[in-house]
Amino acid sequence: MPHDQPPTLPIPDALSAAHCEQVTAFIRRQIETSGGSISFAEFMQHALYAPGLGYYAAGSTKFGAAGDFVTAPEVSNVFGHVVARQCAEVLEQVGDGAVLEIGAGSGKLAADVLARLGTLDSLPVAYRILEVSADLRERQETYLEQHLPELVHLVSWIDSPPIGHRGVILANEVLDALPVERFRRRGSGIVQQRVGATPDGFAFTESPAPDLLESAVLQLEADLGETLLDGYASEICLAVPDWIAQLGAGLDEGIAFLFDYGVSRSEYYAAERSDGWLRCHFRHHAHNDPLVLPGIQDLTAWVDFTRVATAAVTVGFDVVGYTAQAQFLMSGGLEAEMSGFDALTLEAQLELSQQIKTLTLPGEMGEHFKCMALRKGNCRTPSAFTLADRTHTL
Ligand SMILES: C[S@@+](CC[C@H](N)C(=O)[O-])C[C@H]1O[C@@H](n2cnc3c(N)ncnc32)[C@H](O)[C@@H]1O
Repeated sequence: MPHDQPPTLPIPDALSAAHCEQVTAFIRRQIETSGGSISFAEFMQHALYAPGLGYYAAGSTKFGAAGDFVTAPEVSNVFGHVVARQCAEVLEQVGDGAVLEIGAGSGKLAADVLARLGTLDSLPVAYRILEVSADLRERQETYLEQHLPELVHLVSWIDSPPIGHRGVILANEVLDALPVERFRRRGSGIVQQRVGATPDGFAFTESPAPDLLESAVLQLEADLGETLLDGYASEICLAVPDWIAQLGAGLDEGIAFLFDYGVSRSEYYAAERSDGWLRCHFRHHAHNDPLVLPGIQDLTAWVDFTRVATAAVTVGFDVVGYTAQAQFLMSGGLEAEMSGFDALTLEAQLELSQQIKTLTLPGEMGEHFKCMALRKGNCRTPSAFTLADRTHTL
């Protein structure tokens, strides 16, 4: 097993351990051919997406109770049903509109959104899924065939964002899965944290930051109006501008709803947050060591939503909303979704109450998770942002 594991992590079963060793060997070869180290972004890219090997590219169960972490659609179908109500508002204004979901995980959000759009009589002309993982794509197909046979004909999988898309774009917990760079301010300079091999695993090393990383960090310091303290380390996702530009180029008219855990830039690079926002998940244990368990643990970094908004404005989007998940749900149709509550059995009422708490309480998913809405064209601001929009905090 590479690296000593923090003692609280569960021991991987034999199959997972063998897979981890394969991924470790693969990354070691990349490090060797790169002359002794790779950037952290490259490490994250390999650990998550190396074809047939990476965490998202290989076959383990990731989502839900049997996996490593739980996302909002996996907590409750109420999440997808409220999202569907927001989609319906957009689709009503954009004739013959479609939905594009990016990074659809197990396929559960797609199933819940389509099911509710069906009952609202607001079905899109198509529900397209853009998914980088061949394995997850197969799982999504199976899930939708089993859970939504009557509407699965609307769903198709695409390999790059469609051109001329009109309607809705959805992405839940995709931005946090884009590889990030790690950097540290050292005196008057910026260094890049890289990953090298050790006899029993991987370790961080430091090199002068390449030009692209250095200028990005200097730019964010200029935006913050201050120089980060000596020794301060954090992450920056250099992939965000291109990712957003692809969405912008693909969407002609409509709204992109981006859900993720994240904060504004001033919170992201606050002095007290001096070691960044990486988070790793293995069998429902969250921890901060990204170099252990490559290929069998999830690696994520919280999102700097100011960076997302800036990139969006640059490519012609209007940022029409930014709010916490709790407010999104409460303004976006949660009450309507609860209208049948009294008719449920006591057991079902308790279960649903627990799900709503998980989705909305500040200590659970209600506050850390945000939704940002990006618009092309003239659609009205979705109702989910009417209660407490925080765009002014970005
Ligand atoms: C954390 S999972 C979230 C899955 C799902 N949206 C959910 O909420 O349960 C991240 C998903 O995004 C996909 N993904 C990551 N980067 C992507 C990209 N650049 N384009 C499309 N999908 C991507 C992953 O394969 C995975 O399905």
